[in-house]
Amino acid sequence: MMRRKIVAGNWKMNKTPSEAVELINTLKPLVANDDVDVVFCVPAIDITVAVEAAKGSNIAIGAENMYYEESGAYTGEIAPAMLVDAGVKYVIIGHSERREYFAETDETVNKKVLKAIEHGIVPIICCGETLTQREQGVTIDFVRQQIKIALQGVTADQAKEVVIAYEPIWAIGTGVVATTEQAQEVCVAIRACIAEVYDEATAEAIRIQYGGSVSAASAPELFAQADIDGGLVGGASLKPDFGAIVNYNK
Ligand code: PGA
Repeated sequence: MMRRKIVAGNWKMNKTPSEAVELINTLKPLVANDDVDVVFCVPAIDITVAVEAAKGSNIAIGAENMYYEESGAYTGEIAPAMLVDAGVKYVIIGHSERREYFAETDETVNKKVLKAIEHGIVPIICCGETLTQREQGVTIDFVRQQIKIALQGVTADQAKEVVIAYEPIWAIGTGVVATTEQAQEVCVAIRACIAEVYDEATAEAIRIQYGGSVSAASAPELFAQADIDGGLVGGASLKPDFGAIVNYNK
């Protein structure tokens, strides 16, 4: 089966609403590629203007986070229905920065994944090991645990639609990209884990991205790997380079 590639930008805490419009207008012509799903995950306050600016293009807008309750007394949080109403199609869940700085756990990740699916938003579920874990040889065990907990209660049909982003923490924002072998090895292990939890058909359908210092130079080789179905891109998603990353196959 041919999985369609998906390349998502993660803007993190960058770009005001007016800067967001400017960046989308700059990138719009550069990210056209019929072979790839293109997503811009933007700060919550940029979502409305980003959806408007992206109209008529191949860019889908995503959020960087979401809460797992429907509504109510959760000061500062964003509900799934708010994202849907604003035109959001994807949401990053459990990015390592949220796990590190905002106390997200595998359990809150699981609750958010279930909520996103319930509302028809595609979760981009992040996983990945620290440098210490890699050096200790526990990368695959750790990532398998993250994935199993994240997907608890998700049916096989629902799992087929989710996106997983494998992002080794030591490669994020460091300029140290994982080697293609390292990235492919863990993506294979994630797919094997999905096959164990569900079945082969689900494992074959699910899209697994690599993230961590993806650049225009590294994207073609990474995305050519059999089990790497695209990328989650931080720093380079804010630059014209993102166009070259999306067009890795041209
Ligand atoms: P980076 O970030 O591309 O700047 O390393 C990736 C991410 O955190 O998703």
